[in-house]
Amino acid sequence: MDEYSTIAALRARLAAERQAGKTIGLVPTMGFLHDGHLALVDDMRAASDVVVMSIFVNPLQFGPNEDLSRYPRNIERDRGLAASRGVEILFVPTVEEMYPAGAECRVVAGATASRWEGAQRPGHFDGVLTVVAKLFNIVQPDVAGFGQKDIEQFTLIRKMVRDLDMPLALRLLPTVREADGLALSSRNVYLTPDARVQALALSRALREVAGQWEAGERDADILRGVVAAAFAAADGVVPDYIAIADPDTLVPVTRAIPGTIVAVAARVGSTRLIDNVILTEECA
Ligand code: PAJ
Repeated sequence: MDEYSTIAALRARLAAERQAGKTIGLVPTMGFLHDGHLALVDDMRAASDVVVMSIFVNPLQFGPNEDLSRYPRNIERDRGLAASRGVEILFVPTVEEMYPAGAECRVVAGATASRWEGAQRPGHFDGVLTVVAKLFNIVQPDVAGFGQKDIEQFTLIRKMVRDLDMPLALRLLPTVREADGLALSSRNVYLTPDARVQALALSRALREVAGQWEAGERDADILRGVVAAAFAAADGVVPDYIAIADPDTLVPVTRAIPGTIVAVAARVGSTRLIDNVILTEECA
């Protein structure tokens, strides 16, 4: 695995790969890698010839009261995991490399970012779209992979790619979970042992709503009630939102159909967690 910290050096290397006829796959991350990130690498190895992973904790997507300064990092460990999983090119830029003095242009997410996660975290998705657009311009991948764990993020990236005519394919990979259901997240490291148990309320609530969907329930108010009841029955869980929404617009639906997303955010102790399920024909 080769590592680059400058855009110029990475571009020179990628030009050579492209010259050799290789397709390029990109997996953007903020590091502190876990099996969710590594599943994206596995998928990208199958979907492209050369896998590029970026590790960059993007200050633009953190609000003033969020966890930028304490976001977990371990670049040594990440290097080992990425290399052993088959990442060929690791891009680890500094903040100055990505946002040199004077850089001020931004991608602005539209109304789709005004709900749910976007409403709770003003400016967050502008920051995500700006860095993802930059990474797409820097790497010029044929294909890029993202996780269902951050389903609203994927919805907005897909919109950006469509709305701004970006020439690449996107892949969405299912959420990787611990054996007990907890969605893997770099932020799980913040959970105390008690909160780690309480955090299971999110995946449990989503399993319950999926069960009701499977049993034939389609009324969004009733489905939302199932999630709310599961949260109310759980200790130490303070819900932020329960979204039952269209996967393209994030607008709330009154009746669920295949493809409808159920996305939740909740505070467990001092940690804010998100999770979701997509209601599909067979699933849920
Ligand atoms: P990060 O949280 O590091 O996640 C990087 C990628 O891994 C995202 O596509 C995310 O959805 C995916 N991912 C995280 N947990 C997952 C899980 N349990 N199962 C499957 N995939 C999972 O998301 C970001 O970074 C940033 O916003 C980024 C897109 C890199 C822009 O800064």
